[in-house]
Amino acid sequence: MSSKQPSSEHILVAVAWPYASGPRHIGHVAGFGVPSDVFARFQRLRGAKVLMVSGTDEHGTPILVAADREGIGPREIADRYSQVITEDLRRLGLSYDLFTRTTTKNHQLVVQDLFRTLYEKGFLIRRTQLGAFSEKTGRTLPDRYIEGTCPHCGYTSARGDQCDNCGRMLDPQDLIDPRSKIDGAPPVFRESEHFFLDLPAFASALSDWLEQKSDWRSNVLAFSSNLLGELRPRAVTRDIDWGIHVPVPEFEERDDKRIYVWFDAVIGYLSASIEWARLRGQPEAWRDWWQDPESRHFYFMGKDNIVFHSVIWPSILMGYGGGGELGGGEGAPHLVLPENVVSSEFLTQEGQKFSSSRGVVIEVRDFLLRYDPDPLRYYLTAGGPETQDTDFTWAEFIRRNNDELVATWGNLVQRTLTLAARHFRAVPTPGQIGVADAGLLQSVESGFDHVGDLLGTAHFKSALAEVMALAAKVNQYLGEMEPWRLVKVDRERAGTVLFIALQCISDLKVLFTPFLPFSSQALHEMLGQEGLLAPLPVLEEVDLGDGDPHRVLVTDWTRAVGSWVPTRLEPGQPLTAPRALFRKLDPALADQELQRMALLGAAGGDA
Ligand code: MF3
Ligand code: ZN
Repeated sequence: MSSKQPSSEHILVAVAWPYASGPRHIGHVAGFGVPSDVFARFQRLRGAKVLMVSGTDEHGTPILVAADREGIGPREIADRYSQVITEDLRRLGLSYDLFTRTTTKNHQLVVQDLFRTLYEKGFLIRRTQLGAFSEKTGRTLPDRYIEGTCPHCGYTSARGDQCDNCGRMLDPQDLIDPRSKIDGAPPVFRESEHFFLDLPAFASALSDWLEQKSDWRSNVLAFSSNLLGELRPRAVTRDIDWGIHVPVPEFEERDDKRIYVWFDAVIGYLSASIEWARLRGQPEAWRDWWQDPESRHFYFMGKDNIVFHSVIWPSILMGYGGGGELGGGEGAPHLVLPENVVSSEFLTQEGQKFSSSRGVVIEVRDFLLRYDPDPLRYYLTAGGPETQDTDFTWAEFIRRNNDELVATWGNLVQRTLTLAARHFRAVPTPGQIGVADAGLLQSVESGFDHVGDLLGTAHFKSALAEVMALAAKVNQYLGEMEPWRLVKVDRERAGTVLFIALQCISDLKVLFTPFLPFSSQALHEMLGQEGLLAPLPVLEEVDLGDGDPHRVLVTDWTRAVGSWVPTRLEPGQPLTAPRALFRKLDPALADQELQRMALLGAAGGDA
């Protein structure tokens, strides 16, 4: 994939839907949030037509468990946390075109169309199976809430849907010594009638499709190919009273049967695209992303979501084909399959797994009360779990903020703009450009190709390292040229050096935009430039005219400027003294944060 200008390339950035079951922690946004936004912002700058969608995942047992915990209904839980999460994502600057909810009417209709179509095409098999129930509540115990020993590898914390050790898909009744993760009690198994997605029917199509995906991260590819060897039909309905009704005769009216939350959630990528199109008053516009075979779809998530995106969702899409009501029927173009499933590994914190119940958690909302979003985005990209599990520590967060963000990029901007404003009050007019000057400009300009290639292939960590290395080069140039000394002896040469440095900063500002939207926008303004380099999402109440008003996050691109090519800085452009892009953090904060966490942990966490 190259970073050359596409003109009408459609790219769907499909971001995993966080459960509206509680506030999200920084491990969540390290997985799905920051990487997807970096990618989407980059693709928009290079001129692609990007549609970035997601929303809160509000059905299923995760929501019911949270409702029990807090002693309120599932609807109230979903409303409460949908709002909290939406606010977190807004403050992180995640540039969703639409971040909606799975409890909308629009979503329900789309899910039911897909379900019904798969059923009519024979891909949903009706059969009776043993289901796991909680003896205490009488409700289905969802797969993910059952733990036991893996029958294949002996791992003792395998879940009812999959073993995280050997990667195999499981059914709860396969587990040895199964127990409920909610109360530790063994589940009871009862006969119950359900619909099963006929995964074996897609086995060969899936494997042909996966075979072309040599550019995926190797963990995702290996994991997904492994699953193909042992596909079994998988239940896509549940005995539960919270979720989307099953649109099939006999099931339709039943209040104790609902569509499985994962079947419903993955369809959100499609339903949110449709909602987005309807909100813009161009109800068919979603087809440009979903029915044009040239359109490319990139999915972003944490690794526990892989199977749903690399096996189950593609099967649903293949089964739907040209589709039912929405798609347009047999002759219609088929819905587009994922181009890439970009999965992150896990983030731990101070050596421990995140756990809200044990108070080992750093909530996004809490973090952003005391720190700015760009340093968090920087940390999660530079030190995050892109291809292996990594550990967040406060000491490392502060070190990276101070020694990298502030010392390299912040200082470069600060000293260059201060000098230029003080001595020239404007971008200086350059004199004779020397070899070193031209060489530096050239390295920075070549960043658009290098960094672009890395970003386009989801190598975010190396892309950011490359941009930082360029910033360090400009710092080194200033150190060698000493414009602060030159202004006293050779004003014209000082002006040339500052011009070169400013021109590099202006380019770096664009290169940093996908990672650091807030500070890049601030710098854009300090350089006296117009428009929005990094538009930010806003909360909005929307109504599709179907009696279902709801709150969403949207980003307006009408004032967006900037593109992924070297900039042209105008000499004479007035400059004023800059304000700092980043704050230096006192290293003593690390201890304070650790103490806070210890207190939260002691208090039981669930605060
Ligand atoms: N809610 C799930 C989680 O938090 C992710 C759902 S992603 C989607 O793990 F595919 F279903 F949208
Ligand atoms: Zn196993």
